[in-house]
Amino acid sequence: LIEQSDYQKKMAAEKSVELIEDGMIIGLGSGSTVYWMLKRLGERVKEGLVVKGIPSSKRTAGWADEFGIPLTGFHEAMQLDLAIDGADEIDGDLNLIKGGGGSLVREKIVNAAANRLIIIADKSKMVSHLGESALPVEVLPFGWEITAKHISQLGCVTTLRKKKKEVFISDNGNYILDCQFDHIADPKSLHESLKLLVGVVETGLFIGMTEQVIIGENETIKIIYS
Ligand code: A5P
Repeated sequence: LIEQSDYQKKMAAEKSVELIEDGMIIGLGSGSTVYWMLKRLGERVKEGLVVKGIPSSKRTAGWADEFGIPLTGFHEAMQLDLAIDGADEIDGDLNLIKGGGGSLVREKIVNAAANRLIIIADKSKMVSHLGESALPVEVLPFGWEITAKHISQLGCVTTLRKKKKEVFISDNGNYILDCQFDHIADPKSLHESLKLLVGVVETGLFIGMTEQVIIGENETIKIIYS
């Protein structure tokens, strides 16, 4: 038995796999919604679909292996046909907060290399304004305390992400600061301000990248175009 939100994720994920065509190179996002996409894509590969994927996290690479999806890297393809990824928050302009799973840097590199970015999510991810949840920001471990101080001066409370009491380390060997703002009035300028701070590697704000969002609702699917 799967939970309602998992069912919605699965519906959106399976719908997105219909967009994948023979011969494509696909950016493979990260997270529990993407898990369902990979599972369905693996079935299509077994049926004869020829694709290659570039994974945005070690976890995704592991799942792709498990489901029999061939992987490649940027040495083979600098431009991807399509990227399919999840999100933590999606606003009305299809700007996103990502990085709940800690894979934001690789996700942004993969998604930015794709001709089209498709976001799959359950309906709880739609928000009127970004910033209801904390914004993940990946920072270098060296001097992270100073970087955190500079980030908090932009108007947020920063928390060093931990997993089972240990500092969480990203796939790139960095730390994640979860930054809780009252509200994010202007996501683009906040992203730019954060990127100017030394020590910041990347932010979880994905602005103007999404072409299409596929939302699983109860028994239906809603598609929103940018
Ligand atoms: C991973 O770092 C994230 O950006 C995920 O895409 C995001 O957290 C969505 O995850 P779920 O699909 O598990 O909700």
